[in-house]
Amino acid sequence: MKPFANEPILELRRAPVRAQLAGALEAFDAEPVIQIPVWVGDDTRTGGALVSTDPGEPDRVVAEAAIASDADVDHALDLAARSDWARRPAAARAEVLVAAAQWLRERRLEIAALEVRETAKPWREADADVCEAIDFLEYYARGAIALEERPAGDAELIQLPGERNELRWRPRGIVAVISPWNFPVAIPLGMVAAGLATGNAVVLKPAEQAPACAFAVVRALRESGLPPSALALLPGEGPVGAALVGDPRVHTIAFTGSGPVGLEIVRRAAETAPGQRHLKRVVAEMGGKNCVIVDSDADLDDVVPALVKSAFNYAGQKCSAAARVLAHEAIHDGLVERLAGAIEVLHVGQASDPEIDVPPVIEREAQERVARYAGIAESQGRIAGRAAEVPDRGWFATPTLAADLPADSPVLQEEIFGPLLAVERVRSIEAACDRVDASPFGLTGGLFSRSPQTVVYVTERSPVGNLYVNREITGAMVGRQPFGGNRLSGTGTKAGGPGYLLQFVEPRVVTENTVRHGLVV
Ligand SMILES: NC(=O)c1ccc[n+]([C@@H]2O[C@H](COP(=O)([O-])OP(=O)(O)OC[C@H]3O[C@@H](n4cnc5c(N)ncnc54)[C@H](O)[C@@H]3O)[C@@H](O)[C@H]2O)c1
Repeated sequence: MKPFANEPILELRRAPVRAQLAGALEAFDAEPVIQIPVWVGDDTRTGGALVSTDPGEPDRVVAEAAIASDADVDHALDLAARSDWARRPAAARAEVLVAAAQWLRERRLEIAALEVRETAKPWREADADVCEAIDFLEYYARGAIALEERPAGDAELIQLPGERNELRWRPRGIVAVISPWNFPVAIPLGMVAAGLATGNAVVLKPAEQAPACAFAVVRALRESGLPPSALALLPGEGPVGAALVGDPRVHTIAFTGSGPVGLEIVRRAAETAPGQRHLKRVVAEMGGKNCVIVDSDADLDDVVPALVKSAFNYAGQKCSAAARVLAHEAIHDGLVERLAGAIEVLHVGQASDPEIDVPPVIEREAQERVARYAGIAESQGRIAGRAAEVPDRGWFATPTLAADLPADSPVLQEEIFGPLLAVERVRSIEAACDRVDASPFGLTGGLFSRSPQTVVYVTERSPVGNLYVNREITGAMVGRQPFGGNRLSGTGTKAGGPGYLLQFVEPRVVTENTVRHGLVV
């Protein structure tokens, strides 16, 4: 296999590329509403209990999905337990993953158009999501082969005369993947691909807001030679995920989503049912409250566009998005003024319009949540800036800048997951680090500074999983920036990094005395 390289993103500044995307969207809109089945083995059951709509035009139905019943969950786990996928060597499994990457490449415009409609991902982000999905497949395919060929990596086991020691990684068992909607193809596919690459059968419970994107994930793998028993699709809401978490047949739970749900999963997975012969492992990637520190010597010409991008691209709905800016008092007022100016002119509009800066949020509940926190910001501090024009149809939330909030304000302490950025005044970089350290979250963080000593100091004190220096804090790339949070933001594993696959396998060490006293043939 060629060495891994990231899939190149589309050049949206080119008119012919934009025309292709418009064509893809037109073709997508001409198709009937997508029917998403519960898909277990070769059995499919459709139904319209779950309706997926366009956040920018809530009357537009994108897909209708069946909701998995308890019997479907049981069927899926029963079939997964009997799958022979684990018996294939890593290279054969990798072949399926690489073929699925090619399947996606050949349909990348179509899948991006689906993301634009189902999750209001702007074109740039939708395309990047498809590329990231391709990257996960290619990266984990190679990683699983490496685990089989060099199980101990660089730390070869010590061998003594008369003794042979061998380490092997075996699949842990059934993986339940429970995914969010905000990277609707890349995140479910990344977790599914890791489970499959390492030889486990997988059952996918995708986010209720994006079942059609999850259907594309399963089709990509199934239509690339994956045996039907190795991957089931169970659309539905929280209770379907909860049923998987509680089932003793599940060995590993790969979850990405909000903190409260993640904590509930960790708690429930720790219980062992009667007859259960293993401990469940939870791989949890959860929410954050991401802080960016801006030092007195930072160049605001760089800082302002990077912060606007970090906080408002995809309407602040990336887990890595900037939520708090800790600005040195020497530049605080100037920074607030310039950020406010930049936010006022943000172009808020439909995700399908390549000219927009900020799309709608995912659903009505999210729109109301952002408005509620903006209300708190207004009463506890002040609104320093707001986007001037916001469409009145669709689930649009107004990009907002808050300032002068008390340190214990919920606007500063809780994940809002929308286009609301708060700026705080700090006396020093040490004080900024103290505030970051006081947070229970540890997902991403940022620093703008021209002093190498400050960079070293902040790096040393940052508890976050991904710290970005002098750049925007979103857009981690597979293999370049392994991604994941610490503290209450996650279990500390890094998607798209060298250690990730180890979550899905268990080690077996065989030690053989090779001094034979007579050989039985
Ligand atoms: N750390 C990361 O890498 C990362 C990446 C993306 C999103 N996120 C986080 O995800 C959140 C947004 O996604 P969301 O709104 O889809 O999150 P969510 O927690 O509401 O839902 C995530 C998934 O969990 C399921 N679920 C809900 N209740 C459940 C239960 N009791 N048991 C089992 N499953 C249950 C949902 O149906 C969905 O499939 C944000 O908090 C964001 O920060 C984190």
